[in-house]
This record gives sequence, C-alpha cells and structure tokens, in this order.
Amino acid sequence: MKRITLGTNGLKSGEIALGCMRMNKLSAKGAADVISNAIEAGVDLFDHADIYGKGMSEEVFAKAMDMVSAKREDMILQTKCGIRDGFFDFSREHILDSVEGSLKRLQTDYIDILLLHRPDTLMDPEEVAEAFTKLKESGKARHFGVSNQNPSQIELLKQYMKEDLIINQLQLSLMHTPMIDAGLNVNMRHDPATVRDNGVLEYSRLNNMTIQAWSPFQYGMIKGAFIGNDDFPEVNAKLQEFAEKKGVTDSAIAIAWILRHPANIQPVVGTMNTQRMRDIAEASHVELSRKEWYELYKAAGNELP
Ligand SMILES: NC(=O)c1ccc[n+]([C@@H]2O[C@H](COP(=O)([O-])OP(=O)(O)OC[C@H]3O[C@@H](n4cnc5c(N)ncnc54)[C@H](OP(=O)(O)O)[C@@H]3O)[C@@H](O)[C@H]2O)c1
Repeated sequence: MKRITLGTNGLKSGEIALGCMRMNKLSAKGAADVISNAIEAGVDLFDHADIYGKGMSEEVFAKAMDMVSAKREDMILQTKCGIRDGFFDFSREHILDSVEGSLKRLQTDYIDILLLHRPDTLMDPEEVAEAFTKLKESGKARHFGVSNQNPSQIELLKQYMKEDLIINQLQLSLMHTPMIDAGLNVNMRHDPATVRDNGVLEYSRLNNMTIQAWSPFQYGMIKGAFIGNDDFPEVNAKLQEFAEKKGVTDSAIAIAWILRHPANIQPVVGTMNTQRMRDIAEASHVELSRKEWYELYKAAGNELP
C-alpha cells in the first residue's frame, strides 16, 4: 500500500486507515484477525473514539493486541474526544478525562493522534489549547487534529494552539460529496453550489491538513453501504464496469475514487471482514483517469455545470 504524509509534521501512514467503530461487536480473537489482516494489507493507522461501543471498541482492540505480532510503536493509534451523552464538550477537564479513559481502555501510554470529534459551540479555544499542551508535554498525545470542522473553526483553534492540527476527519464517499460539489458549481443558483463547509476541501489543501474520509461506503448519515444496493443502480453499474476493467472489486474502485483526488485524502474504512479489507487495499494500485473519475461522480447522481 502506498504511504502518505499526514499533515505538516512528517508523520507517515498507509494511505488507507481502518476505523474501529464497529469493533465492539467482535471477540478479541476476531478483532486480532481483523487487525493482523489489515496490517498485512499495509494499514497502520487505527481510528478510535472514546464513545465507540461506549468504550468497548477500544477495550476489544487492546485485548486483541495481545494476540497480534505487530509492535505498538509501528502502529498509529488515533482516538477522539468531545462527544458526550447528548451534548458536546471541549472543556479542558473533559478532554483530559477522556484521554485518560482511552489510554486505560487501549492499554497504552500514548495516543498518536487525538482528534476533537464534533464541534462544541460552547468551546473556549484557550481551554482546548491548554489541554493539548498538557497532553503533549506529558507525552500522552503526540499529534492533534479535528473532525467535522470548517475552516473558520480550525482557524479559531489555531490562534491559541502551539501544536499543529494535522487531520480533519470528514464524511466523504462517492454518495456524499458536498465538499466537492460546491467547488464544481461556484456562483450558481442550484443546490450543489451551496457551500456547506466554508470551503474545507480547498482550505485543507492550502494548509496541508489531511482530510480523513469517514464512512467511505455509506450513503446518507451512515444509512448503509451503497455498494451492491439496488437503490443506486447507476453508480453500482459504473463501479462494476471499472472493477472488471481493472481486475479489482467494486469496493476497491469506490476507495480508488477517493484516493484519485489530489488532496491527499485518507479513507477510513470500517469493514470488519478480512477478505473485504484485502480487496479494498487493492485500491492503492488502481489508476483512475480523470475521465473515469468524473464518470463515477456523474453516475453517483451529480451533474456537471
Ligand atoms: N469522525 C466522525 O464523525 C465519524 C463518524 C462515523 C465514522 N467514523 C469513522 O469512520 C470509520 C468507518 O465508518 P463506517 O464503518 O461507517 O464506514 P464504511 O467503511 O463506509 O462502512 C463499513 C460498513 O459497511 C459494511 N459494508 C457492506 N457492504 C460493504 C462493501 N461492499 N464494502 C465495504 N463495506 C461494506 C461493512 O460490513 P463488513 O464489516 O461486513 O464488511 C461495515 O459494516 C469508523 O470506524 C470510524 O472510525 C468517524
């Protein structure tokens, strides 16, 4: 699998990451198989959050790590904080508490990358900066980033922060493309022209901030996979056509479509199926032409101006 540099401070990773949101449903042995298989396919970044499976996903992952031959220092463990039961909380106290909880559940001394999960409008950026500096100085978190944030929110944080923000994790799939649509329909009156994220795609490129694409196979708000779904015949026919042409699966083509974008986007796939993970990893070797990329975009229901 090809490797990419995440953000601005030199950290390198396989270009596809594994999301562990669904790992709570596995046994430790099942999770160990999923982790070992992903590592063999070239994955080294594992994405968590304090809330996945109410903490169970991190716990199962740690139990599985006892059965995995890969070393902790060769892995990038990323987790998130800031979503609580029915509200968002970027207070200093909550960030620090959440990280302590994740460290304990993951049975590790440090988090490689800590992300703020979803914007808290009551955030005091100075408090976030204090929490990050404390975590950095104590060695409990090494790198920092955000998720679901727009450029102004990031700039606000940056005014106070000593540490770089290297990641912004955002929803992006062939069937969820608002950040791409707006840039293709500038100054037009129809819905795709609506800028819903304050130009986050262009901002990320200008600032070398890595976008991680969450739920790259889902349509709607995590409503289900669009691959093989009869509600989306056109995009599936096109995925199938290219899959046959390139000798990979339709899932691999859907990820290759994200990787083809020059913004250095890292898809975070959530499969817990080992064969599917191996198939998806093949996306790293797929070459999609500009024309093929746009054909997929149009087959997903988008029109070009
Ligand atoms: N930052 C945020 O706000 C946020 C929000 C949501 C998710 N995330 C992150 O993103 C990661 C991925 O999310 P996700 O699990 O919703 O993503 P996904 O990769 O889009 O979906 C994976 C799910 O779709 C199923 N699936 C069915 N057919 C599939 C196919 N042909 N190809 C691939 N998957 C298929 C998988 O089942 P099998 O397991 O059987 O393959 C799995 O349950 C999460 O683990 C989490 O780390 C972040």
